Amino acid sequence: MDYRGAFLLMVVLTVMTLCIKTLYLSYPWTENSEVNEMHVREFNSFKVQNINCKRILDGEKTEILRAKSMVPKGIPDDETVLRHTANCVHFRTLYGYDNIINTVEEQQFPIAFNILLYKDVAQVEILLRAIYRPQNYYCLHVDGFSPDPVHKAAKSLADCFDNVFIVSKTENVVYESFQRLKADINCMADHLVKPDWKYLINIPGQEYPLKTNAEIVQILKMMNNTNDISCTRGVGAVLGRILFKFMNVYGENGTYSIVNTGAMNTKPPHGIVVAKGSAYGVFTRQFVKYMINNQIAKDFLEWCRTILSPDEYYWSSLNYNPHLQIPGAIKGKGKDERIKGSHLFHILSKY
Ligand SMILES: *[C@@H]1O[C@H](CO)[C@@H](O)[C@H](O)[C@H]1NC(C)=O
Ligand SMILES: *[C@@H]1O[C@H](CO)[C@@H](O)[C@H](O)[C@H]1NC(C)=O
Repeated sequence: MDYRGAFLLMVVLTVMTLCIKTLYLSYPWTENSEVNEMHVREFNSFKVQNINCKRILDGEKTEILRAKSMVPKGIPDDETVLRHTANCVHFRTLYGYDNIINTVEEQQFPIAFNILLYKDVAQVEILLRAIYRPQNYYCLHVDGFSPDPVHKAAKSLADCFDNVFIVSKTENVVYESFQRLKADINCMADHLVKPDWKYLINIPGQEYPLKTNAEIVQILKMMNNTNDISCTRGVGAVLGRILFKFMNVYGENGTYSIVNTGAMNTKPPHGIVVAKGSAYGVFTRQFVKYMINNQIAKDFLEWCRTILSPDEYYWSSLNYNPHLQIPGAIKGKGKDERIKGSHLFHILSKY
């Protein structure tokens, strides 16, 4: 072989090597197939196989009991989620994310979700799989106090999707703290940057929907740009939590507890009558925009800093003070007797 022939052969071999390498890397099933096969085996072991869903939906006791007996004990740990999401293409294919039915009606009605979690990312993944659609947005707030593996697994899961993200500012959440409310607010602010979505729903990581995304879209459309936020006023509003000033007392290790200072709280600003609701609700985009940007909402949020469980007061109060004329909120004055019974205004919060 002459000099030129050898050179040509070298060029051909180099190009071939590069091609094979590119193909190899872009084809997920061949890349480390032993690992992938293990993931398939593990994933199948988490599933309840060979049950008859129709018979279960028809309420057949024997099939329900049979299915119950097959439910795996516990859920996969955070390390498993981390391993399975290391190869996103393989993960999405295996877990069925690329085969989700997504009607045109759903595609034209994107929803933003806040998911607050502190443990068990595998359970959050099961929830995500139930509500995941490419046009929706999902903000994951992982508690600042959660151990590292939870943060790592949640980040790895989020990184497998363009429309799932970790909140830009993480709060250290203690039960009944202002930080619990702030975690939702931080996700809401992040969501507002995203275009198109019509409604925002906040849920905890341990929730599971009883309706499909398509059904949720139809219900939200019927709500015609109004919120669904529950509300109780008067004695039911648990006044002890709002009459006194509460504050966080920080320990040496960064944790804190909430104590009642015994001092009386000031009146809420802007003539707001406090209404107690749930930490969870269904909010129109315009209402979220108001909560994040409007000065009245910001003033009221500051006032909420010194009450207990402000997540059960902030949006319900903004929703049930018609004089503020907030988009999506209650418009009429409403008789107080009617407002007292939260169920009267409670449509979808627990869909
Ligand atoms: C929906 O809201 C608009 C604007 O507030 C109103 O004009 C319309 O009547 C509402 N539609 C229904 C079906 O309630
Ligand atoms: C932090 O300190 C508090 C008391 O100040 C204690 O109750 C708690 O268990 C500690 N937490 C950790 C993670 O060490």
